[in-house]
Amino acid sequence: MAYPVLFFCLLLSLATAEDGHRGWLRYAPVPQTGSYASFPTSIIALNSTRSSPVYTAGQELQQGINSILGKQLSANSTSEKTFSSIIVGTVDAYAKSYGEIDEAEDLEEDGFYLSTEGRNVVIVGQNERGALYGAFEYLSRLAQGNLDAFSFVDNPHAPIRWVNQWDNMDGSIERGYAGPSIFFRNGLVVDNTTRVAEYAKLLASIRINGIIVNNVNANATLLSAQNLDGLGRLADAMRPYGIQLGISLNFASPQTFGGLSTFDPLDPKVDAWWANVTNQVYAHVPDMAGYLVKANSEGQPGPLTYNRTLADGANMFARAVEPHGGIVMFRAFVYDNHINETNWKNDRANAAVEFFQDLDGKFDENVVVQIKYGPIDFQVREPASPLFSTLRNTSTAIELQITQEYLGQQCHLLYLGPLWKEILEFDMKADDRPSKVKDIISGERFRRPLGGSAGVVNVGTNTTWLGSHLAMSNLYAYGKLAWDPALEPEEVLQDWIRLTFGFDRQVMNTITNMSMQSWPAYENYSGNLGIQTLTDILYAHYGPNPATQDGNGWGQWTRADKFSIGMDRTVSNGTGNAGQYPPAVAQQYENIETTPDNLLLWFHHVNYTHPLKSGKTVIQHFYDAHYEGAKTAQEFVKQWASLKGKVDSERFDHVLFLQTYQAGHALVWRDSINQFYYNLSEIPDAAKRVNNHPYRIEAEDMSLSGYKRYSVNPFHAASGYNAIPHSLLQLVSTRPRGVWIPFI
Ligand code: GCU
Repeated sequence: MAYPVLFFCLLLSLATAEDGHRGWLRYAPVPQTGSYASFPTSIIALNSTRSSPVYTAGQELQQGINSILGKQLSANSTSEKTFSSIIVGTVDAYAKSYGEIDEAEDLEEDGFYLSTEGRNVVIVGQNERGALYGAFEYLSRLAQGNLDAFSFVDNPHAPIRWVNQWDNMDGSIERGYAGPSIFFRNGLVVDNTTRVAEYAKLLASIRINGIIVNNVNANATLLSAQNLDGLGRLADAMRPYGIQLGISLNFASPQTFGGLSTFDPLDPKVDAWWANVTNQVYAHVPDMAGYLVKANSEGQPGPLTYNRTLADGANMFARAVEPHGGIVMFRAFVYDNHINETNWKNDRANAAVEFFQDLDGKFDENVVVQIKYGPIDFQVREPASPLFSTLRNTSTAIELQITQEYLGQQCHLLYLGPLWKEILEFDMKADDRPSKVKDIISGERFRRPLGGSAGVVNVGTNTTWLGSHLAMSNLYAYGKLAWDPALEPEEVLQDWIRLTFGFDRQVMNTITNMSMQSWPAYENYSGNLGIQTLTDILYAHYGPNPATQDGNGWGQWTRADKFSIGMDRTVSNGTGNAGQYPPAVAQQYENIETTPDNLLLWFHHVNYTHPLKSGKTVIQHFYDAHYEGAKTAQEFVKQWASLKGKVDSERFDHVLFLQTYQAGHALVWRDSINQFYYNLSEIPDAAKRVNNHPYRIEAEDMSLSGYKRYSVNPFHAASGYNAIPHSLLQLVSTRPRGVWIPFI
């Protein structure tokens, strides 16, 4: 008898393996209390078509409740109520069967009404997608042990809540850190869409309604007949979750793929070509959400090649999708990456406003300009992009990055909710009226019909989706804040923790503390005072390399020399960038006294000895902040380690590994950056730590035997400029002679 029991246990443990692939939708059993006794006995989903989100809602409710409460409810689509049911459907379907619901009058597109107050649980969506959102909300509350009676209407803050994947046709992912693409392989759309459907489920549960599946640096072969079939397959897999598929386009496709002699957006042949292609795409994906276009940016083709405006380019696509109800997300990430640093007035941060300000009002109604949150490129801290306040007759969306490109690439813990919240709540004070970014992108402030958010996610085939269990809080928070930016990031985080790791108080407190400290810590040891993430900007965007910021055309300059540092973006003496903001904000940033310290070097060029509001000098703040940030990262290891036995071993070990790595890499960051600025300024650290590492075992003081030495670039990432290959660092614990040990 022992054998089958063992087998059963094995199956059970396999079925519940915590490899992360269910994300926050684990539906872990919750301790039952008395109030579960009167729980409904059936589910009525008011649509039995399998591709319908309402059908999905019924299935999800059945599985979720079974898993959370151990109750097997019958699920059917007949409207006949049993004694007590969970009824899910659209407001219209509900009204037909059971009569009108007064509260449903307040529902907006994608919104839902959820009530557990009566005998029945009522989940009614303004549309099918809304009904599914309501079902997920109900399940989320059950999974968090919340059985209270409640009744409310929940509407989205903005209509566009999309994610962007930067997946290439060959299966690689630009800035993806979790393995190859779930969408493409070897130039083609994948056959097996299981992971695609699972991803769609996760996205639907956080109320995402659209996805661009391919890289903004787009490959026109996506438009081949075989790939259009494939796109149809992807859309079919995601439709039951209410996720609409969209694609990125390469502007030159008419020429490079279609065989035309031109891709001029005002050439009728080009227009006709796109109309035809678009019709074909819609033949395969009748509910396609729309297109995403990166044009005239970082070497990508665009309308400027033909002296046409960016609006001419965007409107060409807008015309093509308009008859199908599609929209065009046109990226504002347009800049010249060959600007000359010797000109004090040159500034990449000015590019978006310069390119777009004269085009305001010239875009078709179904165009949305998609703006990165800051003027440069997803740095650890940037002010909100001034373009949000410039475009008043154009719909806009904010672009955020879940994938941690400049922010430690998922090897460093960085909970982004607080960063996004700060930007969304930032008040542009346009016309001296409240003009928060969140209300601009929703369309409310400037009365635009469209608007919302796009989050670059870049999930891969790794079971953790993002390559790190803890990084999933970012995807969760992105969806939640896109729906409701008024939410508090810490509360969102704690919902995610309960759903992902359960109810243990210590687990909750520890992950909350670590996550909430993670942005300040990373900012402290990477780049502070608004100087940007001082990473290698030329290649990997990973690890410290402040020297790469300057001396090239990319424009992520720090203008650091022996005496001073920072970009002078004032109107009076600098690039004029501060003047791109509405007057009240412009004045604040123009004046060094009123510029917050955390953006000081973004807007001002100062001596290293310039005193901050804290009383410290800039250079001493650099030194201290780097020590403080690295210290916090060390503490993460201890904090996480204290959860041993409270988190399943699979996830515990994985996170411990990453935290240990981060702790080491934070020291590399700390010492590299501090050394770099010490070498440059020759100003000693008041606490005598910088350039003084008595505890280090220097390679040059030892004889290496059996190891090959490599010179390190950037040199300041290793003391004595030397290292041995990473694979040998496992020997660190035995402290072999001749090995430089970076992590002590
Ligand atoms: C960054 C990123 C690129 C990406 C680009 C974009 O520069 O490093 O990989 O293509 O942004 O957003 O278009």
